[in-house]
Amino acid sequence: MIIILLGPPGAGKGTQAQRIESSQGLVQLSTGDMLRAAVSAGTEVGKKAKEFMDAGKLVTDEIVIGIIADRIEEDDCRKGFLLDGFPRTVAQAEALDNMLDQKNLKLDAVIEMKVDDEALVDRITGRYTCAECNQGYHDVNLKPKVEGVCDNCGSTNFKRRADDNRETVSSRLEAYHAQTAPLLPYYEAKGILKVVDGMADIDSVTAQISDVLSSLK
Ligand code: AP5
Ligand code: MG
Ligand code: ZN
Repeated sequence: MIIILLGPPGAGKGTQAQRIESSQGLVQLSTGDMLRAAVSAGTEVGKKAKEFMDAGKLVTDEIVIGIIADRIEEDDCRKGFLLDGFPRTVAQAEALDNMLDQKNLKLDAVIEMKVDDEALVDRITGRYTCAECNQGYHDVNLKPKVEGVCDNCGSTNFKRRADDNRETVSSRLEAYHAQTAPLLPYYEAKGILKVVDGMADIDSVTAQISDVLSSLK
């Protein structure tokens, strides 16, 4: 199965992708995570991407399309994958269509996670992740079972993203509405757009997404 999770910054794409990855065995492909790894490693891609990311702007289509084109060639993608944060522009969506056509693959569904803009700032400013295994948490909405200890790996090291501040969040939201929201009619016209209520609590959103995935089998 090939699925896209589409939604604004803080909608819960990463949170739900981690859950689907463990329950359905669909590998999560997050361009945001891949770009952050490139920035930390100081690669050429990372050097080019950093300025855009810090400003809350989209990295160039050329860079992200190249990253995804290479990534979907890897063995773990053969059983299907879940795209989190890609595509983000119509040009990226068209490039994905071409990549899939060439491999005789098809996109099964695009799941829109609908969340009001007002809720997103709190979600993003309260977010942190495990520094070892990348498990996501939130100061209020999703705390570890034992305070200060990762549920998944037991680590006590956590980190926050450099772009998770109020100023950058508003640029990221603007980029979403101007450049990414046009993908909704693009996929609607193909008849593969499914909408879930991303304002619901985390478990309810997981249940809604599971229903969509079951309806595709
Ligand atoms: P990226 O990493 O993709 O960031 P984003 O789209 O801004 O999305 P987020 O990761 O902030 O949100 P999310 O939806 O994953 O939310 P999460 O599950 O963590 O991109 C970062 C940057 O990289 C971009 O700005 C751009 O520069 C660049 N980039 C990446 N891809 C690109 C591309 N394709 N093209 C160009 N540039 C690209 O949840 C947020 C918080 O809320 C968490 O703490 C979570 O616990 C909590 N939460 C989740 N769900 C709920 C819920 N239902 N109720 C309450 N709390 C919840
Ligand atoms: Mg994310
Ligand atoms: Zn961990």
